[in-house]
Amino acid sequence: MKKVITYGTYDLFHQGHYNLLKRAKALGDYLIVGVTTDNFDLERGKMNTCNNVMERIDAVKATGLADQIVIEEYRGQKIDDIQKYGVDIFAIGSDWEGYFDYLNEFCQVVYLPRTEGISSTQLRQERPTVNIGIIGTGSIASRFVPESENVNSAFISAAYNPNMGENMVFCEKFHIPTMAHNLDELYANCNAVYIASPHYTHYDYAKSALKAGKHVLCETPFVFSSAQAEELYQIAEENKLVLMVALKTAYSPAFGHLFSLLKSRVIGDIVEVNASVTTLTDESSEKLDSKHFGGSMSENACFPLLPIFKFLGTDYRNINFYSKMKNDVDMFTKAVFRFDHAVASFQVGLGVKTEGSMTIAGTKGYVYVPAPWWKTDYFEVRYEDQNQNKKYFYPFVGEGLRYEIKDFVAAILAGGFYHNKISRNENLVMARVQEAYIKGNNVYKL
Ligand code: CTP
Repeated sequence: MKKVITYGTYDLFHQGHYNLLKRAKALGDYLIVGVTTDNFDLERGKMNTCNNVMERIDAVKATGLADQIVIEEYRGQKIDDIQKYGVDIFAIGSDWEGYFDYLNEFCQVVYLPRTEGISSTQLRQERPTVNIGIIGTGSIASRFVPESENVNSAFISAAYNPNMGENMVFCEKFHIPTMAHNLDELYANCNAVYIASPHYTHYDYAKSALKAGKHVLCETPFVFSSAQAEELYQIAEENKLVLMVALKTAYSPAFGHLFSLLKSRVIGDIVEVNASVTTLTDESSEKLDSKHFGGSMSENACFPLLPIFKFLGTDYRNINFYSKMKNDVDMFTKAVFRFDHAVASFQVGLGVKTEGSMTIAGTKGYVYVPAPWWKTDYFEVRYEDQNQNKKYFYPFVGEGLRYEIKDFVAAILAGGFYHNKISRNENLVMARVQEAYIKGNNVYKL
């Protein structure tokens, strides 16, 4: 019996896929089809698939052409499969011509003619698009635009900056179709807004965008009081709009899995979380402007607040802040939280440097996430018996903003029925912490 194997993603299954499977089947007596897992696609940077692995497998199954379906989970698996299943022919579309010649060592390689004029990419492009207008055209917006190009259904349609000169440079550089002269023009050219303006303007812009009926993805720190956060969520809810905070760590594959591992008690009860984020900054930077909520807390605290609230909950008893000040701005702040059964602390700095790692201590072991933990692709779970230690690796592609953009767009297209990676309550409590700090509650200045 001649065995043939072929592989693909088979997203939005189409005629080209069907023809290829039929041609592959005709090469032998038994056809094995490898379907990529969602994780494997993510790892190789393909994160715009519309169907999940179960749907894609079902579509292949429905053709009746596959005698066996296997899932492709890792690079190098093709060789393992060929040997394991005693495969005679590896077949793939001619778009891969030459690429898989190295498999000739293990079986015959056949490149089959591809069906012209159709592809998953093309079908994805024909699906509904979320037109995003950007408010604020600084450095994070400059990273956001190229990242959005990796997200299916996301299109940057307009940009606004009250400084028209800066806006023009930005729109020209990134080929943004509408250079908006005011907010009304921006809103007329988008159905969602990404707020990347200076921190102190977030609340006003978010409120204005939500009132104009636009979904909002707001950069961190979201806002500076829980009342403001509450109000924005209420407007979003009343108008059935998506409101998300662009805290990139929350959407990254590694952080998501770390969360599930900890909740499944791999280190027992969590007793301490400690994390640091410090970025030495030029003293003339806007980030250190005392009149506009500049400083380490405002700039960096949302990052460590995320694991603290995710892993320990939001019911802390109290917080003490210890700040090294200069020109009325905190150049460095250490915060210590008391929970009923745990303690948490973080260090943030713009004028002081620390190791940017995170440790989470539990009754059975601890997790170590090396610097920079907020965009990690790797962490370790460690135990008293070192033989039990485990290392975990994940993709963190590009600047890592594509993960939050993907969630934002998916939430909008799903009509809001979507699991939000940072809950409303977590965002409210983060705003409350910023507020407590601004009011000087338990702030000890050094
Ligand atoms: N294929 C084909 N003809 C097409 C599209 C795909 O013969 N018009 C073949 C590919 O060469 C491959 C298999 O179908 O052997 C699965 O390809 P896959 O990458 O899943 O499909 P594409 O439509 O090419 O997807 P994308 O646009 O995301 O690359």
